[in-house]
Amino acid sequence: MYDFAADIADCAKEVEAGLARALTTDALSGPGPAAERVVAAMRHGSLEGGKRLRPLLVRQAAAVFNVAAVAALPAGLAVEMVHCYSLVHDDLPAMDDDDLRRGRPTVHKAFDDATAILAGDGLLTHAFGLLSDPQCHPDPAVRIALVAELVAGSGAGGMVGGQMRDIEGERGGFSNGEIATMQAMKTGALIRASVRIGARLGGADARALSALTAYAEAAGRAFQLADDILDVTATAEAMGKATGKDAAQGKQTLVAQLGLEGARSELSATVNAALSALRTFGPKADGLRATARYFASREN
Ligand code: IPE
Ligand code: IPE
Ligand code: MG
Ligand code: MG
Ligand code: MG
Repeated sequence: MYDFAADIADCAKEVEAGLARALTTDALSGPGPAAERVVAAMRHGSLEGGKRLRPLLVRQAAAVFNVAAVAALPAGLAVEMVHCYSLVHDDLPAMDDDDLRRGRPTVHKAFDDATAILAGDGLLTHAFGLLSDPQCHPDPAVRIALVAELVAGSGAGGMVGGQMRDIEGERGGFSNGEIATMQAMKTGALIRASVRIGARLGGADARALSALTAYAEAAGRAFQLADDILDVTATAEAMGKATGKDAAQGKQTLVAQLGLEGARSELSATVNAALSALRTFGPKADGLRATARYFASREN
């Protein structure tokens, strides 16, 4: 029987240890020694906290193809580094201007804005170092495919583009469709990349990849819907970050558009869509099923 609580806890433990190993002065040094201050800020922005859901999706998608969790870890760490970088920059005064993240001061509060910008840049850059390392996958063609997936998920047509739209949306006037596009990009694209990276580690064929992509797109939408609902309903203590900020900053969300009840019913429909995309897969996709359900029930 698949055990979600054990899977998510084990994944978080492995990710924490893997990031701690990857983010040392030795591991990060190049032609020169890595600067201590930026290494410390990169560690602050990525260690001790976080649900580690993107590496979990990498390992669960890989598990559909019998890939062991340990073999999916380096690629999971790469996606988590990009995610952590996106949070470090998202919290900057020029963006969402947040002081609290994962229950601790944000990187620019603990250090300063310039260091936070560089720490994000460092995490982004080294993520691609992990994907290009033979430890990630023995076949260089697979590694290049993983790099392309992460580029698509995190670049201007993915997360970065979605963050741009999010900021533009503060002026108001987005339609439901424009909100959906913004969310599919700012959050959905990296979740989509996580699932596709796991599938590619397992050598998924075109049909499996397309079914898993449909799962990931619905799951990513569910994830951001839940984030926007929790911004209204949860406490900062539970979330480890400030809440009630989307309305205060005039963010375009489906909660603002549909109301809480409307957003909740959209959330459960979206989770059902994610589950039905997995209908051709057997019990090996139980991890992905459990994570989609968790996206709707999570409390932080
Ligand atoms: C928060 O993501 C940012 C969004 C994309 C909405 P998570 O809720 O996955 O944050 P952590 O990694 O668990 O802190
Ligand atoms: C953040 O969305 C998405 C990315 C960082 C790419 P939010 O701004 O809603 O995330 P939180 O609520 O600050 O975690
Ligand atoms: Mg934001
Ligand atoms: Mg934010
Ligand atoms: Mg939010």
